[in-house]
Amino acid sequence: MIRLTELAHERWRAVLRPGDTAVDATVGNGHDTLVLARLVGPTGRVIGFDVQPDALFAARQRLDDAGFLDARLYFDDHRKIAEFVTGSVRVVCFNLGYLPGGDKTVTTRRESTIPAIAAAASILVPGGVLTVIGYRGHPGGTEETDAVREKLNSMKEFAVEEIPGGESPTSPVLFVATKNH
Ligand SMILES: C[S@@+](CC[C@H](N)C(=O)[O-])C[C@H]1O[C@@H](n2cnc3c(N)ncnc32)[C@H](O)[C@@H]1O
Repeated sequence: MIRLTELAHERWRAVLRPGDTAVDATVGNGHDTLVLARLVGPTGRVIGFDVQPDALFAARQRLDDAGFLDARLYFDDHRKIAEFVTGSVRVVCFNLGYLPGGDKTVTTRRESTIPAIAAAASILVPGGVLTVIGYRGHPGGTEETDAVREKLNSMKEFAVEEIPGGESPTSPVLFVATKNH
């Protein structure tokens, strides 16, 4: 299976520059947050959201251990992205589903994911990239991924690519939406 997380990282790497601002809408254990922090560097900003305190604690530890003390992590719903984030943002990422190694009943849900994607789209600069990895192997995952596809394809100011992670109907999917110039 293609590693969709690594494909997403490649897409961030292609657009992010030192000093940029990036948003991790689903911080979890902070693996993606750390990749973003490295790409924007000490002059950039990374802002993250999660609804599980344990996840944010693990992520904060990971960032601190790597020397990134300035990342701003919020214990809040990613629907509030546009309220917390000011200025120009070049990348927003969502890695949906449940926290690996955590409580599998706490998953992202389309009721919040779709408004959060709309909020993320509003803060991206032209040329900015929104990546969403959807998982279809858990209850509600396929419906959420389908709703993400529909939402992204309805956003006319974005060019949307869809990259499946395998042949199976339950394989994860990476969406890459690039905001038009
Ligand atoms: C697949 S995990 C993210 C993994 C993470 N990117 C990493 O590198 O470890 C999905 C995360 O989304 C979080 N989440 C669920 N609903 C959320 C919401 N409404 N707002 C923000 N985060 C949410 C979960 O708590 C979980 O930690």
